[in-house]
Amino acid sequence: MKVLVTGGLGFIGSHTVVELLDNGYEVVVVDALYNSSIDVADKIKEITGKDFELYIDDVTNEEKMDEIFAKEKPDAVIHFAAYKAVGESVQKPIMYYKNNLLSTLTLCNVMQKYNCKKIVFSSSATVYGDPEVLPITEECKVGGTTNPYGTTKLMNEKILKDITIADKDFSVVILRYFNPIGAHKSGLIGEKPNGIPNNLMPYIVRVASGELPELSIFGNDYPTHDGTGVRDYIHVVDLAKGHLKAIEHAVPGIDYFNLGTGKGYSVLDMVNAFEKVNGVKVPYKIVERRPGDIATCYADPSKAEKVLGWKAELGLDEMMRDSYNFILKCKEDK
Ligand code: WQD
Repeated sequence: MKVLVTGGLGFIGSHTVVELLDNGYEVVVVDALYNSSIDVADKIKEITGKDFELYIDDVTNEEKMDEIFAKEKPDAVIHFAAYKAVGESVQKPIMYYKNNLLSTLTLCNVMQKYNCKKIVFSSSATVYGDPEVLPITEECKVGGTTNPYGTTKLMNEKILKDITIADKDFSVVILRYFNPIGAHKSGLIGEKPNGIPNNLMPYIVRVASGELPELSIFGNDYPTHDGTGVRDYIHVVDLAKGHLKAIEHAVPGIDYFNLGTGKGYSVLDMVNAFEKVNGVKVPYKIVERRPGDIATCYADPSKAEKVLGWKAELGLDEMMRDSYNFILKCKEDK
């Protein structure tokens, strides 16, 4: 089976391409390099020993996407390509709505033209807003998103649902990620955001490696066991494997799955675990809460286990070790 992966050189995309290649899939990657780098392609080939087609293009470019589909004729699509910085989305809503919605609309239009009717969509736990019920199941209310990034994910879910109503042959699997962290055990690919990281783990690893002086913990007065925010962190390799299960599962219509571990860890839990596993100190200070943050968010991942036969297998220790191993390898290669 040939799978076209948009954003396939990004953090989650690259780990998914590795899993696809390792499992015998033919892969075509389309990536505009907005938040990734071309050297990831070579790293993927080094890890898997396999080759794949790569197009450095923007998914919103319908002419280009038409050419690619005409040439490659993929059987299925995994759609990662999107802008994903929550804070930036608040500052630049037009850029986010235009890119994140137009990319999906363009992609689906071309898919239908070339009779490619199976798509796995990269969504996010942010579609649940501030959850009323914990752990979060797929039946929980969605909406109340607190930033344009999360709203584009929710709007894309509605767009894809409407396409399945109009086109009975269209298969959509929506994967709602919790907090992806970690890196491939080789240390060759991982999370390398441009500039100062917004997310917790990329920040922690840069403090541990001496690139940044200390971590700011955004508030310790939340109603959690130690006052700091609690999230469901999932190893990116587990997340990648979930996409293969989703591709295999896709049937006409639409289905939704939470990809999380079902365990919630606080910011201080993460700092302590990182220090213990890697034998390094992570200096930090407590500062004000970050606007838009919620106290607690973690998944009930039982539906993915029951229906997809998928369950996260890697624990906090692997997440901590693999995250740090990647950044140390990056420093070595500099
Ligand atoms: C985690 C916890 C912060 C940074 C975001 C997106 C979500 C998804 C995952 C794409 C919170 C605290 C963080 C720091 C801190 N991305 N923190 N100091 O906000 O749960 O989710 O990333 O799908 O869509 O919203 O992740 O890593 O930013 O924060 O104290 O320097 O760490 O307050 O409690 P978040 P995060």
